[in-house]
Amino acid sequence: MSKDLKDVKSEEELSFYCRSPIYMCPSCTHAENCRDLLNLLRTFRVEEKAPEFDYMTNFPFLNERTFKQDKKNKMNELSSGEWLTFTRTVFNPKFPHILGHDMRRHHPDYKSPHLIGQLIAFFTKQGDHIVDPFAGTGTSLLSASLLGRDAIGFEINQDWIDIYYKICKQESIERQKLVFGDSAYMTAYIPPDTIDFIVVDPPDPLTPEEWMPEAEPPEKPLEEYFDFIRQVLVNCYKGLKNKKYIAVFTRNLYNKSRYVFMAPYFTSVAEDAGFILKGEKIWENKAEKLRPYGYPHTYVPNIVHYSILIFRKDEAETGAAKRKEGAKLKLR
Ligand SMILES: C[S@@+](CC[C@H](N)C(=O)[O-])C[C@H]1O[C@@H](n2cnc3c(N)ncnc32)[C@H](O)[C@@H]1O
Repeated sequence: MSKDLKDVKSEEELSFYCRSPIYMCPSCTHAENCRDLLNLLRTFRVEEKAPEFDYMTNFPFLNERTFKQDKKNKMNELSSGEWLTFTRTVFNPKFPHILGHDMRRHHPDYKSPHLIGQLIAFFTKQGDHIVDPFAGTGTSLLSASLLGRDAIGFEINQDWIDIYYKICKQESIERQKLVFGDSAYMTAYIPPDTIDFIVVDPPDPLTPEEWMPEAEPPEKPLEEYFDFIRQVLVNCYKGLKNKKYIAVFTRNLYNKSRYVFMAPYFTSVAEDAGFILKGEKIWENKAEKLRPYGYPHTYVPNIVHYSILIFRKDEAETGAAKRKEGAKLKLR
């Protein structure tokens, strides 16, 4: 393979004749000798092994960029090595305790600007518009400012908004718009098809007082929760530009002594809203404290990972899927 790679002399020589999509390559019997695949691999300089990017020390990616931006990359401003590093489906970094960490950690489910910054850096370019319907202490808004993106967040708890403002002041970070209010009304602030990326870090399903503070506790919390999440995702779909992405944080839970996978539920309501599932990133939260739930009688896991689901708005694909469904219905 490396011999053939050396034969390709310049980027101009890169040509892609195969009509099959790239994701078919791993199962293709011609992959060994496929010149198109070799050319593509060369773009990523695999002969030298593309360097893994250190997102931790390089955040917020504003250091002088030494590489030539690939003109074909319309998605972000990352190098091929940075791109490849992000496509790992699992990551477990230990985030530095900076950027107002001492204040953010009062929130029961705060995230790190380094974590959300990676998502923003991959799915947007400078000047792009981002929405966070559950902003909490404004982690995504901090990342957006540091990365030169515009953002708007929604949060129903004023305490977290106050923390965001304090952090901006302390760190001299430009404030983004953070609306005190229910994200169910976000369409009043966001015109259709204007947003480039959405980060959804939803509240805990089994803590209804967090997402319906005024109401009576629901009889069937999970059902009500997913009706609520579906509505938020429908609003997100309206605001997002076509072909753009949304990342949804999901965490499995223990409910009535049963382990419940949450990703399928989130996928189902996101599909109801029109989104197409494109992948996931498993993030291990190193800061999660271990608790001896079942000790010393039964096995009860400490759930320390999130599955960050990546969906895309693709009107053509959603339309095709709906047409297919319609055709099936007619046949019955
Ligand atoms: C998982 S937390 C987000 C944490 C945030 N990413 C951070 O790093 O601080 C979810 C947040 O959603 C807020 N929330 C719940 N229901 C909401 C609603 N209907 N509209 C806006 N915010 C809501 C909660 O108050 C909570 O702060």
